[in-house]
Amino acid sequence: MAAHTARGGTRGDGWRDDESVTAPVLLLLGRGRDAGSERGVDCPGDLPAPSDPHLVERARAAKAALGNRVFVLGHHYQRDEVIQFADVTGDSFKLAKEAAARPDAEFIVFCGVHFMAESADILTSENQRVILPDLAAGCSMADMAVLEQVEQCWDTLADLGIAESTVPVTYMNSSADIKGFVGRNKGVVCTSSNAKRALDWAFAQGDKVLFLPDQHLGRNTAVLEMGFSLDDCVLYDPHKPSGGLTADQLRSAKMILWRGHCSVHGRFTLETVNDVRERVPGVNVLVHPECRHEVVTAADYVGSTEFIIKTLDAAEPGSKWAVGTELNLVRRLADAHPDKQVMFLDKTVCYCSTMNRIDLPHLVWALEELVAGRVPNQITVEAATAHHARAALDQMLALP
Ligand code: 13P
Ligand code: SF4
Repeated sequence: MAAHTARGGTRGDGWRDDESVTAPVLLLLGRGRDAGSERGVDCPGDLPAPSDPHLVERARAAKAALGNRVFVLGHHYQRDEVIQFADVTGDSFKLAKEAAARPDAEFIVFCGVHFMAESADILTSENQRVILPDLAAGCSMADMAVLEQVEQCWDTLADLGIAESTVPVTYMNSSADIKGFVGRNKGVVCTSSNAKRALDWAFAQGDKVLFLPDQHLGRNTAVLEMGFSLDDCVLYDPHKPSGGLTADQLRSAKMILWRGHCSVHGRFTLETVNDVRERVPGVNVLVHPECRHEVVTAADYVGSTEFIIKTLDAAEPGSKWAVGTELNLVRRLADAHPDKQVMFLDKTVCYCSTMNRIDLPHLVWALEELVAGRVPNQITVEAATAHHARAALDQMLALP
C-alpha cells in the first residue's frame, strides 16, 4: 500500500469483532521455548549490565574488530541505542534485500525480530550466518498463524473444492514455515509496500485469496485499493471449526482473511483519530496499513513504514502530523523534522515490546561473542522449508 489517500471504502459486517486492542499476546512472548512459533528463549550467555557505562565503547570496539566480516541491520522500530550501530536501517523488506546484497559479510547481525532474521537467512548464501541478538525478539502477529492451523484451513478449503482456485498470500511478518506453505501452494509473500501488487498477481492466478496472517493489511488493501467491499472479505478464526465460517461464506468470499493482527498498530482506535483532530486543528493523520480498518478509513494517508518516512520528508514546513505507527520510529521522525509538528497518534505509549528486546547489552554481547570466535543465536531455516519459502519470496521479488 504505497502513496494512497485513505478515505473511502464501504462498511459491512463481520470485521469488527477482533481483539486488536485487548489481546494479551505480547505478555506471553519470550517465556520459554516454543519451536513451532515465533517465541524465543532467554539469552544463553552473560549479558553485560545495562548500567555498564562502557557499552557504547564496547560495541564500537567489537564492531571495529570484526570490520567487514559483520554487517548490522536495524529495523526502523529499533531503539536509538541500537540503531546508532546499524550499517543500514529499513523496513523488513528492504533489510532482507540488504542482507542478500552483502555476500561478503560473514555475519549478518539482525536488529529486528525473528521472522526478519529467518527471511535474511533464506535470502543469504550458505556460508553467511544470521544472528538475532535476543532470541526472545519474536512477533506476536507472526505467532498468530501456526503451520498446523494453516494446513487445517487449507484442508477445509480442499474439502469444499475451492483450494485449487485459492491463492495463498502471506505478509512478510510470518514465520518461515508459513512462507514455506505459501511457496508449496504457489502463492506469494508481500509487504506493506507491495500488497496491492501481490494481490493483483494473486487474482490473476485464481478466484480468491487466503491472506495470512494480518487481517488488517489484507482487508485494507482489498477494500481501499482493489475495489472489493467488506462483504467480499471473511474472517477465518483458526480457533474455531472451519474458521467459524459456513461453506457458503467460504465459497462466496474473495478474500479469506486470517484472524491475526499487530498488537502495536491494533492499539490505535477511531477515538484516537477523532481526539487528535479535535486537539490539533489542521492535523494530517498518517497511519500504517496494519491499523484497524476504521482507523485507516478515518486517516488522511496510509502506507508502509518507508511511505511514512518519505511523506514526512516531503511535508511542508509548519505542517502538522499525527503518526500511527511504532513509537521509536515516530520519535526519531519528530527529531528529524523540527520544522514540522510530528506527534504520536495515541496518547499512551506504544512501543513494540519484542522489537525492544534488542537492546545495547544484547548487541554488545552478540558482537563480543563473534569477536571471541563464537556464533551466538544463529537463525537457521531448515532446508526444505527454506526452499519453498524462497520460491514465495522470489515470486514477490518478480512482481511486476
Ligand atoms: P514493515 O517493516 O514492512 O514496515 O512492517 C511493519 C512492522 O510491523 C514490522 O514488524
Ligand atoms: Fe510484530 Fe507488530 Fe511488532 Fe511488527 S510491530 S514486530 S508486526 S508485533
